Amino acid sequence: GAPVEVDLTPIAEGQIVKIFWRGNLIFIRHRSAQEIKAAQDVNVASLRDPQADSERVKNGKDQWLVVYGNCTHLGCVPLGNAGEYNGWFCPCHGSVFDTSGRVRGGPAPINLPIPPYSFVSDTKLIIG
Ligand code: FES
Repeated sequence: GAPVEVDLTPIAEGQIVKIFWRGNLIFIRHRSAQEIKAAQDVNVASLRDPQADSERVKNGKDQWLVVYGNCTHLGCVPLGNAGEYNGWFCPCHGSVFDTSGRVRGGPAPINLPIPPYSFVSDTKLIIG
């Protein structure tokens, strides 16, 4: 599959957009300052799949989180802006993800993975 170009301009703060790349569902989340802070203010060592938020976003582009959109348990599509950490909540068996897409509860074994992507400009990224 070819890379997919995404115009970020219409994605409002707080919004999560779904796109498809190579048959995979991808979430692009425009995070608020509060959501970024919540993602950063976590004791990484306490996480099931320890990853700092800074490892999951591009340097200087903390407002954009790009993750695969299927639960790492059995593949359901989690609901955005939901769950205890207001990240995602998976309705199938209750996995909880934070505003960095990291698993914080339920049976999911690992964080929502990050697909390969890069910024072409401040308002445009390419997935793939
Ligand atoms: Fe998401 Fe099981 S598929 S919790």
